[in-house]
Amino acid sequence: MIYAANFKANHTRKSTENYIEALNAKLGAKKAEDKVYIFPPSSALDSYEGDFTVGAQNAYPTQNGAYTGEIALEQLDEFDIKTILIGHSERRELLNENQENIVEKFSFFQEQDFEIIYCIGEPLNIREKGFESVMQYLLAQFEGIDITYAKLTIAYEPIWAIGTGRSATVEEISTTHRALKNVIKDIPLLYGGSAKPANIKEIASIAGVDGVLVGSASLDAENFSTMILS
Ligand code: 13P
Repeated sequence: MIYAANFKANHTRKSTENYIEALNAKLGAKKAEDKVYIFPPSSALDSYEGDFTVGAQNAYPTQNGAYTGEIALEQLDEFDIKTILIGHSERRELLNENQENIVEKFSFFQEQDFEIIYCIGEPLNIREKGFESVMQYLLAQFEGIDITYAKLTIAYEPIWAIGTGRSATVEEISTTHRALKNVIKDIPLLYGGSAKPANIKEIASIAGVDGVLVGSASLDAENFSTMILS
């Protein structure tokens, strides 16, 4: 299983250090085959040591330059960061990233040989239209994306399950993951959306779920390690 923590705009440099110390104290007990990723905010990126990979939540697809408020490859290279989240629904919706911007970002970081966790997910009104609409919506988010890229992981995160406390049901996750796996084949597929200690076992046991991308429940190291060790 893959356990990825997306801090979003939570945690500071200091609290991320404390978090990693607390997490490291627990990770000795994790299964060797399980992989852990941590995506702190940009201001807390650093060269942390431990049995996990640190990635960036976002970066501008360029070496460096006049991109006010952004970070780029140079700032990631400083800490040897080679992993990035692309296409998160919060960036698509709140930061107005369109598919064209996302494809540009994907291609750039693919060229840089980054490990990419590429996020897709449908809003509630699409889910309510039925499964065919859901798949149509999700597959459109693969437009321009090289889904055969060897260092790719996909995260399916239904927007209506993010931060709401209400995860998708086993049935919803299972049917969506099965359909997505038909398209992405052997590419690992994560589920995200209110994954937490109380539902991790159930989610992890669904066929086609290779891991979880966790927001709220990852913010506390104790909670997140409970998920990893459960
Ligand atoms: P929550 O776990 O808070 O629902 O967030 C999921 C998410 O968006 C992870 O990227």
